[in-house]
This record gives sequence, C-alpha cells and structure tokens, in this order.
Amino acid sequence: MDALRFIEAKKQGQSLTATEIDELITGFTADRVPRYQMAAFLMAVWFRGMTDDETAALTESMLRSGDELDTSDLGGPSADKHSTGGVGDKVSLLLAPLAAACGLRVPMLSGRGLGHTGGTLDKLEAIPDYRIQLSNEDFLGVVRRTGCAIVGQSGDIAPADGRIYALRDVTGTVDCVPLITASIMSKKLAAGPETIVIDLKCGSGAFMTDLDRARELARLLTSVGRAHGRRMAVVFTDMSQPLGVSVGHASETLEALVAMRPGGRELAPADLVRVTEDLVAAMVRTAGFAPDHDAALVQVRRAWDSGDAWRVLQDWVQAQGGRLDWEADDLGLDVAPVSAEFIASGDGWLEIRDCRAIGLALADLGGARLQVEDTIDHAVGIDWLAATGQKVAAGQPLALLRAPEGEGRDKALRRLAGAVAIHDAANAPVPAILEVLEPK
Ligand code: URA
Repeated sequence: MDALRFIEAKKQGQSLTATEIDELITGFTADRVPRYQMAAFLMAVWFRGMTDDETAALTESMLRSGDELDTSDLGGPSADKHSTGGVGDKVSLLLAPLAAACGLRVPMLSGRGLGHTGGTLDKLEAIPDYRIQLSNEDFLGVVRRTGCAIVGQSGDIAPADGRIYALRDVTGTVDCVPLITASIMSKKLAAGPETIVIDLKCGSGAFMTDLDRARELARLLTSVGRAHGRRMAVVFTDMSQPLGVSVGHASETLEALVAMRPGGRELAPADLVRVTEDLVAAMVRTAGFAPDHDAALVQVRRAWDSGDAWRVLQDWVQAQGGRLDWEADDLGLDVAPVSAEFIASGDGWLEIRDCRAIGLALADLGGARLQVEDTIDHAVGIDWLAATGQKVAAGQPLALLRAPEGEGRDKALRRLAGAVAIHDAANAPVPAILEVLEPK
C-alpha cells in the first residue's frame, strides 16, 4: 500500500475513494502505515478538507476497526446522547435515567475528561465502588434490567479513533470538522443506538467557539448518522459559562443526583434543568415517542416529577456496584469543604469572558487532567454562583472554592480573576439553548 500517494493526492486537494481511505486506516491500525505518514495525511486533511463522501468513508473504516455492540434486544428502542464537552457538564447522569424512565433504553459509553472539559466517567468514579468497566454482556444486561448503564469505552470500540486522536492531539489537527465527525460518529455508531442526539456545545468553554462551524459539524454528523440508518437530532447549547453550579467531579455528581429526586426539578439550577429536559425531549421525539417537542417535554417532566427517573437512577447505580446513602444530604459522596471565595472586584454587570479558564482553574486545584496519565482529586471543586448579564456588587462571592489552601488554590483564584469582567452598562444574559436542528 502506497501511503505516500494518498498523502500527495490529499495535499493537491484531490478526493480519495472509500477503498483508498479504508486501505490507509486499516494499514495504520495494523501498524503497516507509520505514525509520521498518518500525521502528514491528517495535516493535509486539515488544510484541504474532505468531501462528505470521504468523511463517510473515513467514519466507516474507523467504525469497522473494532467491535460493534448489538443493541437490538434491549427491550425497547435504544437511544444515546453525545456531548462535545464543556465545563460543569453533568447532563448524562440525569439524562440516562430520565430517558430510560420515558421508555427508551440507554447504553452509554463514556470518556474521561482532558484539559478544561470534564468527563462523565470521572464523575461516576466519585461514587464509591461504581464499576466503570463491565464486559459487553454485563453492560447490556444492566441496560436490559434497569433501562440504562454508563461504562467506559473499551479499547475494542473504534480502536482506530484512539490511535488517530492521539496523533491529532500532538499535531495540531484536532480542530478539523471532517476528522471530528469521523471520530465522534465511529464511536457512537459502534455503540449501536438507533437514535443519537448530539449536544453541540458552543462558546468559550467548548471546543467549538463559533456557531457557524458548529452548524457545519452538525450537518456532517447528522448526514453520516442518517446514512447509517440512525435517527439524529442536534441541540446547540451554550457553553460560555459553566452549566449548573458545580464544577468538580464529586460535587457535579451530587448536584446531578440530588436534582433527580422528586421535587428536584424545581430546585436545581435552571440552565441545567433546561438543557437536560430539552436533550431528553429531543431523544423521546426523535425516537418517535412523541409527535412534537411540547408533547415530549410533558413525558420528560412526568418521568422526573413522579420519581420514576429517580428509581431508575438508583437501580442503575446499584447494578453497577455504586454504594450511596440515598437519604443523606451528601448521598455519601466525598465533596471537599469550601475554603475560599472568589469575589466581585466592583459593582456592575457580570460577563464570563473565558469559561475555559474556569475548567482550567479546576485543574489548578488538582481536579482535572492536563495529560492523559494525570491522576485527579474527585473531591475538589468550584461552585460557580453568578451568570453573564447578572448585576453584582463589590465583595459579592462569584464562586466558592472547594480545595485545601495552597499554591494550586492561589493559582485558581488568579485564573478566575482573568475569566470575568464587570461592566458599567447592563449586558444581555445568554440563553441555555442556542438552537435546535430538527429531528429526522
Ligand atoms: N470528541 C471526539 O470524540 N473526537 C473529536 O475529534 C473531538 C471531540
């Protein structure tokens, strides 16, 4: 196989056939194509792009590089959500039991956080004894029994993506729409759900800061998914400020789980409730369980307020070994006490200018990884208390830091100071939902 020919062709802006792309991906996965040639190819794609057909072929080859789960006998239509990642994004912990309580089956494969974005797996690891690795059989068995399960993605699902992503990460080729599409969809398609809803986060805390590029990504993700016979919808959600209050693994888990209790919908942060409800409603509607968004929302709220979703959540967490004290205020989670406040430096209207910095401040506290191999402290966190467009007064706490005093905490406080601005004139609040790409 002549990898150089494919690199040259892409460098000149030519399109490759599905067979050529498959040769390259299969060759790379089997170590017949060296990393330096794959790196050159990725950079050529970054500059020249790919046609929709090439992107579909790339996705297909990456998908076929590993196992595909059979979700056809879960006792109901299967559905999943993929978030492109952000700060304080604990939605999966609510969404999986809610969707299950609405009658969907939710087999979720999840990842760890890297850099400023948190991963669902890290949040689940804050639950004592929760098992994130299950065999495929046990994983699907939990979904059959309880309606949902969330596990770590094994190396057998789309292994080509793992190898290519590692190269993209060190060659400046992550921010490339066709490569992102193939990466996300190869994993999602391998996990087998019939309905896939994408939570496409946009703003300074997301890797898509620009809504136009996010729309282009959404178009490609849905066209690849539909070509594979999946029902797809995209909800564009704001990530210019943390979602909910808690940022940090144990505290985010606590915030999500407490919100799922009957009555929790009224008490939980409004943006978290809105994003969760809209995503689950999109799943319900896209799966064909409701004729329109409003009818889907009625089902979601009934599942939430009746306690059905809370019961699914308990069954699911227990089925994966998690030990929680369901009656306790802290559910038995180890959340660090508040040790410092980040206060407003003046009177005026708040703007969160750099949400990414808030995610990185969690890393300063030891609660997020900068390198894949870093270990993290699940107990530390930041409670974010104020939103863009809110009127604040000098000395008012904008955030509470849950971490021991020390250099990390000082660095986090300095970083937070650079993340916000206080204006003399009122600025507009930001909506939690930016737009929705209709389900099909
Ligand atoms: N998430 C993924 O899984 N892959 C990407 O390339 C970017 C975000």
